[in-house]
Amino acid sequence: MVDALVAPGYWVCPKFVCDEIVLTLAREAQTFWQANAFRQAQVGAGPQRRLRRDIRSDHVMWVEPASASPALQHYLVRIEELRCMLNQSLYLGLQRFEAHYAAYPPGSFYQRHLDQFQSARHRVVSCILYLNADWAPTDGGALRLYEREGGGAVDVLPQAGTLVVLRSDQIEHEVLRAQRLRWSLCGWLRLDDDPF
Ligand code: OGA
Ligand code: MN
Repeated sequence: MVDALVAPGYWVCPKFVCDEIVLTLAREAQTFWQANAFRQAQVGAGPQRRLRRDIRSDHVMWVEPASASPALQHYLVRIEELRCMLNQSLYLGLQRFEAHYAAYPPGSFYQRHLDQFQSARHRVVSCILYLNADWAPTDGGALRLYEREGGGAVDVLPQAGTLVVLRSDQIEHEVLRAQRLRWSLCGWLRLDDDPF
């Protein structure tokens, strides 16, 4: 992972989380969805924050580490390991992890973007875990990662258990239109102090 984050700037790991944990996380997300706990996602940070359904049409629900279920705690511990590893090897000084569940109803997408806001550079490394059993290429909703150099792109299917880690300030990406309700748990390893 560390080498991949240096170049090409992203890492794709199928089966990062075992089936049982992913299934539990997917069920939890579905329960929150049915309880109307998701909100239409917005773009931008601070005063620039706004609804732009032409840019992204997913719905999100932030997770609270303090009230995390055992399955979510298990995942957060795994991410904590990655955080320590990145700080030791790349001296990133990452301080904490923030995350939300994201639901993309059929027809939703998220246009090409960087995760680091220009006005607030706290997000350094993005970690996206997919929760969708038996995702087929015809279901759409691939994550398209744009190469830093050369103009190429790589598509990743949002298959249950797959983790994508990427440099929030360097790797542009987009979510292609999903044909089927698509679940992910998106999070960011971040700096809390003013980065620069
Ligand atoms: C994001 C994002 C990708 C995904 O929330 O910033 O790019 O596959 N999500 O859910
Ligand atoms: Mn993103």
